[in-house]
Amino acid sequence: MKKTISHNSEIDSYSNLSELPEEFQNLVLRAKKALESSYSPYSGFGVGAALKLSNGEIVLGSNQENIAYPSGLCAERVAIFSAGTNYPDTEIKTIAIIAKSLHGDVTEPVTPCGACRQVMIEFETKQTKPITVIMAGSNGEVWVSNSVNNLIPFYFSSPVVGRAK
Ligand code: THU
Repeated sequence: MKKTISHNSEIDSYSNLSELPEEFQNLVLRAKKALESSYSPYSGFGVGAALKLSNGEIVLGSNQENIAYPSGLCAERVAIFSAGTNYPDTEIKTIAIIAKSLHGDVTEPVTPCGACRQVMIEFETKQTKPITVIMAGSNGEVWVSNSVNNLIPFYFSSPVVGRAK
């Protein structure tokens, strides 16, 4: 018997950063600051990420590339794994992501790559509280998703992958 499994997702779009609540604007500014530490000589595409934790701490990440290309890591995962290392029991409330390119203005909001979404959904599931995702262009529209779940329908999750009880 055939049935359709659907997954609805919605995100909010703002035409300008100034329309966001101040707390979100500040986090985007921190992500923009994180951009300065991007090491991206191969792509010329810098990404900055800033996490706001439930204890008020901000954790930053930027993309770090390598001459052996796949050895690099995206800004989002640098930030999230850093939070997992330094604040393993603290919830992530919000992540802001912004990018800057040597090849032109990034006016479109930057949405996380698939691997980063998979990592983010695991943290969201683990903490059983949604993570707000703020996606910004360097100068323009901003998208806000109130959960990672909106960004990765049908993500990988299997009860038979060995997990310590
Ligand atoms: N990148 C990120 O840091 N985050 C994303 O969500 C997408 C891509 C990085 C990886 C690489 O260093 C550069 O951007 C170009 O793909």
